[in-house]
Amino acid sequence: MRAKPIFGNPALVIEDALVISDLHIGIEYYLQKKGIHIPSQWREMAAAVKELKKESETKTLIINGDLKHGISAGKRELSDARHFIKEISGDFEKIYLVKGNHDGGIQDEIRHLLTIIPSSGFVYGGTGIFHGHAWPSEEVMKTDTLVIGHMHPSYEFLDSLGNSQKEPCWIRGKYKGKAVIVMPSMNRFYGGVAVNRGEFLGPLLKSDDFIPEEIILLDGTVVKKGLVGEKSPE
Ligand SMILES: [Fe+2]
Repeated sequence: MRAKPIFGNPALVIEDALVISDLHIGIEYYLQKKGIHIPSQWREMAAAVKELKKESETKTLIINGDLKHGISAGKRELSDARHFIKEISGDFEKIYLVKGNHDGGIQDEIRHLLTIIPSSGFVYGGTGIFHGHAWPSEEVMKTDTLVIGHMHPSYEFLDSLGNSQKEPCWIRGKYKGKAVIVMPSMNRFYGGVAVNRGEFLGPLLKSDDFIPEEIILLDGTVVKKGLVGEKSPE
């Protein structure tokens, strides 16, 4: 397998590149409006990325979409995204941002620090990488491994008293014979869809040709039952 998850983290390595997804920088401003006050997350995520870079000995960073949260972002959020990129830009030789559905309006001053890839994705180290809210390009579709973000998968555990707990997870599956890896979100405050309760997001994962095979928690726990709806493996 060309794409190797980093144990205990929502990140994987493809050749010399560290791949992360769905940072949703600025989500705290939207949570504030709902009465939930959490500290600014960009510093914590920048520190985590620096640690992952050291651990993985990578040179390149690929952000697989949704660097920031607001689809029409405010000033503070764009400023946080800019600070995040500036903070980590010295650690990597190159940073790619594959455009997610939340990445409109990335400021001009960040653009010179990033190589922006359209939402149809690109091929890196022989692996197809795209955010997942739109179909990938033909070039991406020619690869044998697809890495997707967008869904923020988690697995919901229920105990005998009915208490539930969501854990971020990876989804592994197949699409027309290709390996599919769905990445968890880098932002711990945006757990997203419980794969045993919700539905798949994005055209490729919603298609009948996508066959989910297993859920893997960040600690390596593998769950092979209870995937979304009728697509559960036998
Ligand atoms: Fe996202």
